[in-house]
This record gives sequence, C-alpha cells and structure tokens, in this order.
Amino acid sequence: MKIAIASDHAGFILKPAIVEYIRELGHEVKDFGPADDNRVNYPDYALKVSESVAGGECDLGVLICGTGIGMAITANKVKGIRCGSVSESYSARMSREHNNANVISFGARVVGEDIAKDIVKAFLEGEFQGGRHGDRVKIITDYESCH
Ligand code: RB5
Repeated sequence: MKIAIASDHAGFILKPAIVEYIRELGHEVKDFGPADDNRVNYPDYALKVSESVAGGECDLGVLICGTGIGMAITANKVKGIRCGSVSESYSARMSREHNNANVISFGARVVGEDIAKDIVKAFLEGEFQGGRHGDRVKIITDYESCH
C-alpha cells in the first residue's frame, strides 16, 4: 500500500522511525513533512495527509502530534476520512476492522516508539469486516454526503 504520513513539531520525534518501520513492513511511504521539529500548525499537516487519502493518491494515512487529538479532529473534517485517535494497538486494529478507518493518529507525548510501531502495524494489517459494521459506516457516509 501507499501510506501518507505527517506530524507536527511535537510528533516529529517519532516520524523518522515510523517512516522507516512502514517501509520495513513492505509499504511505500509519502512523507508530507515537516522536515524538522520547528514549530508548525498541526491542521496544515493533517489536511495534507487527509486530502491525499480522500483523493485516492494514498491508501491510508498516519498522523502524529503531541496527543493525536488535534490531528484527528482536523482529519475528520475532510470528506471521506475516518480517523481514529489511539494509544494502543487493539484500538488501532479495531479502527480498521469495525470503523473502516483510513487514517490513524497518535501522540508522541503519549506513546513511545515501540507502542507507536505496534499501533501502526495493527492499523496496516487490520481489514474492514463489513457486514453490520458496513451498515454503521454507511450511516456516517450517508450523513456526510448530504451535509
Ligand atoms: C502542540 O503543542 C500540540 O498542541 C499538538 O501537537 C497536538 O497535541 C494537538 O492536538
């Protein structure tokens, strides 16, 4: 898969290791920045990743800020994006299996590198189960298409 990734200054500390790890898992990575830990505004980066996933350039997205919260709030404003903000791998996997999440966010001030890698692996390996979960996601996408 082609995976979009970005952080803000607070999330930057984890980004290089996560980029490398996603490549080790056999995926292509498009890094939307930033290139260093100078202060930036997280919504700018959440929007770059979310637009690339919503537009079909990338298959899934990974966002890292201080808590994961601002990134998720922003990403979920983009039509077609379902972003879960998580701190462990069970929720990351479930975000794919039950919610068909296409973006995941987490906080570099909340999780360390090993937990972040577990989160990313679970997210990338999870597969949407459809069925009743599809009915629920359809309620979301139907609402989104009328508003
Ligand atoms: C930056 O200080 C911090 O607010 C940001 O990384 C993020 O945690 C916002 O949700």
